[in-house]
Amino acid sequence: MAPSAIRADGTVYTHAGEVQASEPRALESAEMPGIVAQYVQAAENAKRAGFDGVEVHAANNYLLEQFIRDSTNKRTDAYGGSTENRTRLVLEVVDAVVKVWGGNRVGIRLSPVSLQIGNTPLDSDIVTTYGYLIDKLNAFGLAYLHFVEGTTGTDRESPQNVDLDALRARFDGPFIGNNKYDLALAEQRRAAGKIDAVAFGRPFISNPDLVARLHKGLPLTPPAPETFYGDSAKGLTDWPVVAA
Ligand SMILES: Cc1cc2nc3c(=O)[nH]c(=O)nc-3n(C[C@H](O)[C@H](O)[C@H](O)COP(=O)(O)O)c2cc1C
Repeated sequence: MAPSAIRADGTVYTHAGEVQASEPRALESAEMPGIVAQYVQAAENAKRAGFDGVEVHAANNYLLEQFIRDSTNKRTDAYGGSTENRTRLVLEVVDAVVKVWGGNRVGIRLSPVSLQIGNTPLDSDIVTTYGYLIDKLNAFGLAYLHFVEGTTGTDRESPQNVDLDALRARFDGPFIGNNKYDLALAEQRRAAGKIDAVAFGRPFISNPDLVARLHKGLPLTPPAPETFYGDSAKGLTDWPVVAA
């Protein structure tokens, strides 16, 4: 399912291996409350499972970001068209999840300038769309805002001359940066007041003791991308721990 029946120009990983993405079905307007209810169920499940909080994933062109971007949302109902309409679903989900957890236990992940996933085009007016969304998010007292800065796993560039740091500054709370960070970049951007924390992705795969290694200045083991989407533990959970 998707906001509109537009097939992503990319592949997905299934039990049968890597296959071409199929064409999604456009959600009916009447189905939208059920979608929000599924997020509520997930939030409740996470609570019962003993999580400390949840992150609303509105990045990387998964369902919520498909609604946000005008490139993937061609709807004509209350969930498509204007910026207000395209951000309606994500704001309804945040509102519902905050009611389960409280705002200080809910974060949100956005990727305003990430191009790569499914070769999905960017929104035609990134600053207006995501700026509006961030302004609205301020009402919830969220634990943090988290950006994929640049194109996920690829580069830290911002097309359309978007100043991501300025966009992030519209958020009132803590900010987590992600994408191609190493310790030096993390320290530099933290010192400049651009980020409050970093989400490390790939370095954590091959360094289960990443935090201790960064703390002690120990060298990092490079990850093995060819095993990232493998169907076994090899290259995912068999990396050595060197830092006590
Ligand atoms: C094997 C692998 C799987 C990933 N799966 C997801 C995913 O399901 N959803 C998502 O938003 N990002 C996913 N990512 C992207 C990471 O969350 C992160 O944004 C990206 O790796 C950039 O951070 P890094 O440079 O620290 O690795 C994945 C990355 C890798 C390497």
